[in-house]
Amino acid sequence: MIYPIVAYGDPVLRKKAQDIKADYPNLTALIDDMFETMYAASGIGLAAPQIGKSIRLFIVDATPFEDDEDLSEADRMLLSQFKKVFINAQIVQERGDEWVFNEGCLSIPDVREDVFRKDEITIKYWDTDFKEHEEVFSGIAARIIQHEYDHIDGILFTDHLSALKKRMIKGKLTQISKGLVRADYRMKYPLAKKKR
Ligand code: NI
Repeated sequence: MIYPIVAYGDPVLRKKAQDIKADYPNLTALIDDMFETMYAASGIGLAAPQIGKSIRLFIVDATPFEDDEDLSEADRMLLSQFKKVFINAQIVQERGDEWVFNEGCLSIPDVREDVFRKDEITIKYWDTDFKEHEEVFSGIAARIIQHEYDHIDGILFTDHLSALKKRMIKGKLTQISKGLVRADYRMKYPLAKKKR
C-alpha cells in the first residue's frame, strides 16, 4: 500500500518519535509499505513520520546510486548494497570534517539546498529481527542516515540552513503546506483548503 507523504508544516514532522517494541502491530507490512511508498516517489530514504507515524523507524535504499557517474567507484560499490531498515536508532557519535551536499526531501518537494554535516557517524539500531547493531558509516551513506535520523527527532534539512536562506525559502515552504506545489507522488498537505 502506498501512503501519501506528509508535507512540510504537518506537526507530525516536528515530533520526537517514540521507540517501538518487537510486537508493534503489523510491522513487517508497514515496512513493506514504506519501501513501496518510497519507490513510488523515487526517494532514497523515508522516515515513518513522513507517512504520519511518530515512531523511530526509517528506511534507506541508495542502490540507484550504483549507476551514478558522478560518484567514485568506491562509493558506487558501497551504495550498491546500501538498503537497510533502522529501528529505534540512536546516533552515538558524529565526527570528522563537515562537508556540503545538496539535499532534498520528499516532504519538501521542489526545494534543494546545500547542507553541511559531519562526515562520519556511529549509530546504534535494531534490524527487522530486533537484533541490535552498532555500525560506522561515512560519506554519502552517513549523509542519507543523518537526514532520515533527523526526521525521527523532528528535524528537517531546512533547519540546518542559514537565517538568510531560511528567509529566502519561507514563502515556498508555506506554499508547500497549502498544497500549492506539484509533486509527482501523492501528498497530504496540512493547510490544503480541500481534499486533493
Ligand atoms: Ni526527508
